[in-house]
Amino acid sequence: MASALAAELLPEHEAREHLLEVEEEKENGATEVKFQIRDLTKELENGDQILKGVSVDIPKGMIVGIIGPSGSGKSTLLRALNRLWEPPSGSVLLDGRDICNLDVLTLRRKVGMLFQLPVLFEGTVADNIRYGPQLSGKKLSEHEVHRLLALSDLDSSFYSKMGSELSVGQAQRVALARTLANKPEVNL
Ligand SMILES: Nc1ncnc2c1ncn2[C@@H]1O[C@H](COP(=O)(O)OP(=O)(O)OP(=O)(O)O)[C@@H](O)[C@H]1O
Ligand SMILES: [Mg+2]
Repeated sequence: MASALAAELLPEHEAREHLLEVEEEKENGATEVKFQIRDLTKELENGDQILKGVSVDIPKGMIVGIIGPSGSGKSTLLRALNRLWEPPSGSVLLDGRDICNLDVLTLRRKVGMLFQLPVLFEGTVADNIRYGPQLSGKKLSEHEVHRLLALSDLDSSFYSKMGSELSVGQAQRVALARTLANKPEVNL
């Protein structure tokens, strides 16, 4: 699916690593922890425990996958990381700071989330990609939108397509471009 435009916008050597930009490396080569999750528990009103004391470090600059059966709590765990539900205080730390003490909008700007089911706004693909930056008064140029499309492996013909005329997979890629447009530090 990679188009000539994608090749032009993304040099070959960047093509595989473009989603990961690790700016700083610790001198001693140790991996920096981005998210610390400590004994995270989620209980439903009926007493069912969805998450039972999850503890894990998510390193900076790495792609981490969570594998488990359907309904086992993967999305529930991710939703705690940008406070779509409120984790117990002290159980999720971002860069060493309890996320419960951060302004929730600031947190969500740093920690973007790609939902399992993509929901696009009305309008074109370009409208969707421009949406986030526009909220903070920035209008993405045509070139920037094309670059985000290329990063999400969509060719330039998608720019002016309506969100409603896409396949689920294509909509998922537009949702990825829309999330990347906000330059999150972490993409869930
Ligand atoms: N708002 C809710 N109210 C009640 N139960 C919920 C709620 N959200 C999730 N659950 C239950 O919590 C469990 C974990 O759900 P979750 O969405 O985290 O699973 P998952 O691992 O992401 O599954 P999948 O692989 O199918 O996406 C499921 O059994 C689900 O029924
Ligand atoms: Mg899920």
